[in-house]
Amino acid sequence: MLCLRSKTEDAWLQRAIANTREILVDHAHCERKAATQALMLLGRFPDASALVDPMLALAREELEHFELVLALLRQRGWTMDSLPPSGYQAQLHAHCRKHMPGKLVDLLLVAALIEARSCERFKLLADHHPDGELRTAFGGLLAAEARHHGLFVRLAGQYDDPVAVRARLDELAHAEVAVLDSLSPMARIHA
Ligand SMILES: [Fe+2]
Ligand SMILES: [Fe+2]
Repeated sequence: MLCLRSKTEDAWLQRAIANTREILVDHAHCERKAATQALMLLGRFPDASALVDPMLALAREELEHFELVLALLRQRGWTMDSLPPSGYQAQLHAHCRKHMPGKLVDLLLVAALIEARSCERFKLLADHHPDGELRTAFGGLLAAEARHHGLFVRLAGQYDDPVAVRARLDELAHAEVAVLDSLSPMARIHA
């Protein structure tokens, strides 16, 4: 169960399909950032020993996803250009508490929500994108993103009372909807 508090509308899917190159470039950046952020958590919280093995494994897996998306881009003659960010991640991170242990719990829960939204939208692309190869690729990735969602929620539960973590996840899930609603419509996985 993904804990999202809104369902992606058809307008997002139509925009994604009409701007497939941009969505794939953005997706490549998302996978790169997911790998980087797994390692960044280890740098920011060196004492959080429960994170070490899962974040190393996650960084490796996200790098594999990154390579896969790069291959999809190259096969289509596209390159990984820079893209202006939608502001989604920055706005979500602004909701995170500033002091421990809430700070770590919130960063893990925000990561869980980002994975959940990716998973929800990959499912739409896996079901509806006109390019069969992309349908297969997105279908292959969505199970991993659902697993990552669960991983981040479980890890957050190691740094606070699990009931409080669930309640905080729900608060942040509501915030995630407000963030999405505030963004201008761009062809991004998270916009
Ligand atoms: Fe991924
Ligand atoms: Fe992921």
